[in-house]
Amino acid sequence: MCGIVGYYGNNEKKEILIDGLRELEYRGYDSAGIALINDNLLNHFKAIGKLDNLAYRMRDFNSSGFGVAIGHTRWATHGKPTELNAHPHLGDYSFVVHNGIIENYKELKETLKSDGVEFLSQTDTETIVHLFENINNQIDNPFEAFTQTINRLEGAYATLIISEAMADTIFFAKYGSPMLIGFNDGEIFFASSDTPIIGKANEVYYLEDGEYGYIVDGEIKLFDKNGAKEFKRERLTPDKILAQKDGYRFFMEKEIYEQSSIMSDTIMGRVNDNGVDFDEIDDSILDGIDEIKICACGTSYHSALTGAYLLERSAKIRTSVEIASEFRYKDPLLSNKTLFITISQSGETADTLEALKMAKKAGLKSLSICNVDNSSIVRESDITILTRAGIEKGVASTKAFATQVMVLWLFSLYLAKKRDKISPEQLSNEIKAILHSPTSLKVDDNLHSKIHRLSKRYLHGHGFFFIGRDIFYPLALEGALKLKEISYLHAEGYPAGEMKHGPIALADSELFTIALMPQTLWYDKIKSNVEELSARDSTILAISPLDFELADDFIKTKEYDHPMLEFFEMMVVTQILALEISIRLGNDVDMPRNLAKSVTVE
Ligand code: M6R
Repeated sequence: MCGIVGYYGNNEKKEILIDGLRELEYRGYDSAGIALINDNLLNHFKAIGKLDNLAYRMRDFNSSGFGVAIGHTRWATHGKPTELNAHPHLGDYSFVVHNGIIENYKELKETLKSDGVEFLSQTDTETIVHLFENINNQIDNPFEAFTQTINRLEGAYATLIISEAMADTIFFAKYGSPMLIGFNDGEIFFASSDTPIIGKANEVYYLEDGEYGYIVDGEIKLFDKNGAKEFKRERLTPDKILAQKDGYRFFMEKEIYEQSSIMSDTIMGRVNDNGVDFDEIDDSILDGIDEIKICACGTSYHSALTGAYLLERSAKIRTSVEIASEFRYKDPLLSNKTLFITISQSGETADTLEALKMAKKAGLKSLSICNVDNSSIVRESDITILTRAGIEKGVASTKAFATQVMVLWLFSLYLAKKRDKISPEQLSNEIKAILHSPTSLKVDDNLHSKIHRLSKRYLHGHGFFFIGRDIFYPLALEGALKLKEISYLHAEGYPAGEMKHGPIALADSELFTIALMPQTLWYDKIKSNVEELSARDSTILAISPLDFELADDFIKTKEYDHPMLEFFEMMVVTQILALEISIRLGNDVDMPRNLAKSVTVE
């Protein structure tokens, strides 16, 4: 989730790049950097933290006349947020910026090292610039060297290179990470999204995966695996807010759609043929631990509940979950054999932070699962696993929840293996499912239209019950929370088997039951619970891969063979249902009333 910009032209490059990066800062602000060639002089600036630090560092620098420049704002994935790990990365005579993950960087790095290349950073990106120079040093043809470099990269990239070897060009390539090219009367811009170039460029070309090229005499030369290709520029929208949302109506909608690609970032580098590995975890933290306690609030509490099922089932370790605001005041009995896990998207939630401080004071070891590096909870914890969801703008959390659940799933398998509680066959099945999960998170256009159509029937009534069993119970809680946050309709999540112990008294045709009916976990059990509700005339919206004739409305999901894949697909359905109902009711989806993105008061 980094942001990149590039500029070719005669105007002041510092301003253009800093302005552009400011528009992309939401994609990450661990560090920022700019490299440029002006008057044949290669220059670069880097600073950790917010972009303002870079702007300050460049305050006395000016560039006039023709030149090329590239810039980057970083969301750390490989290596800590230090200046050495900040982009642009330098070779001997070239600089690179990159967004994405180079999966085969370790192999490439080893080969380059054996050729005597020295690496300064811990990043995957640095391999690109060294590979480019290594090839160019042999063939003395920068464009051919760039082509060969791109052909050797595996993974995802949007990348720009400038080089003294061809000082009047920018080399560019895109695969799996976004990048576009903007045009305005002799000037050429590159960016991760259109907001940095709105107001500066009037035409745009959105690069496709596999496309790459460079600038020759002010013209873009574009290529793909079949060779040179033509492309057509489009008019660029002048509406900045629309552009920030990448064409989606709301940030929440954009974030729902992003979940599939973001999940690849969450998984990246953490699964391998032997199972799950976390660079962040020093095994000594697990010494003497025989129990886990997880503390969180809101959506993060729901991911914690899901994690508890996974940890007890796979790693066979006793796991309890507490709402942070309750935990703080209950005089909890704590043992130093308990690993204390906090989960937080923002890392600033006051109740969760205070709970963590209490646990630490009682001598517990702590691990946080968080989306924001350097946040208060991260700084307070012994170790942290970052969820890598990128900045979440919608107040109603979506992709943060999905990535928290993924980290917990990975962690449960990591522990299961450490504790010798999982067979190699089981582990390999789990890994297969993990690698498949980005697919289960893809939003199907037909499914979205169907939910849009049926949402009109769910704008009134006296309430919603989301019901599920096992891990689908916390998902039911989360589905209900999403709906109430943005639609202001009353919704509850319930364990399906618990309905008959009271809540079923509410059942009538104006009570909407949203039934999560996966085929891989207790299908027959939940089916009878839903039948009981249907017999009392509750209106049933069933979400299942298996046809269910008592459903008043039915959303058919895919026939996955792993509960977590069904979980992720059903999660997307409940998120879109809440979104569509909220839009029909005319509510502000991204900033619902009475709520805040980060709750720093108790
Ligand atoms: O930043 P955190 O994950 O600690 O925040 C906890 C809750 O405030 C948060 O999950 C809240 O429930 C969301 N708005 C739900 O969409």
